[in-house]
Amino acid sequence: TGAFHLKKTIVMVGMMGAGKTAVGRGLAQLLDVEFLDSDAEIELAANMTVPEIFARDGEPFFRARETEVITRLLQGRPCVLSTGGGAFLSAANQARISQHGVAIWLDADIDLLWSRVKHRDTRPLLRTPDPRTTLEKLCAERVPEYSKADLRVPCAPPVSIEAMAARVARAL
Ligand code: S3P
Repeated sequence: TGAFHLKKTIVMVGMMGAGKTAVGRGLAQLLDVEFLDSDAEIELAANMTVPEIFARDGEPFFRARETEVITRLLQGRPCVLSTGGGAFLSAANQARISQHGVAIWLDADIDLLWSRVKHRDTRPLLRTPDPRTTLEKLCAERVPEYSKADLRVPCAPPVSIEAMAARVARAL
């Protein structure tokens, strides 16, 4: 260990269901650095789940907490940081992340995203009458923002988490 010295935090961005958390965790293991997840940090600080925060305090409140957490974590020791799908949308967050870290966009197609999120009830933004169409719309709106990441890593199945993490590591 210690062979790989991480200079900047690696920040995983992209749509819900792209595998940011799973691949981020695998990458952290591979590089032998700490893994952090912005959604988990927000939940910890609020002592509420993400859906609870959305329901009680609304999305703008959640976004403010998300920006705070990301700003704080980017000031710490370099690590792998997975973010929620909305974290890399504002110009301010994009600048913050690319200044203090390396933004990696996990780019997955809509069918893969949908296959991963359709059975889960943990995404407040998909609690709509037609969640698949909502996901498609979000994806179409967001891709131009995600494409501002420092690095794009396509994730086509079937690729294991380990293989994805290795793919990201090679791209660094
Ligand atoms: C969101 C994605 C979620 C979570 C919140 C909002 C989004 O994270 O932050 O529900 O705006 O896409 P994941 O991308 O980890 O699902």
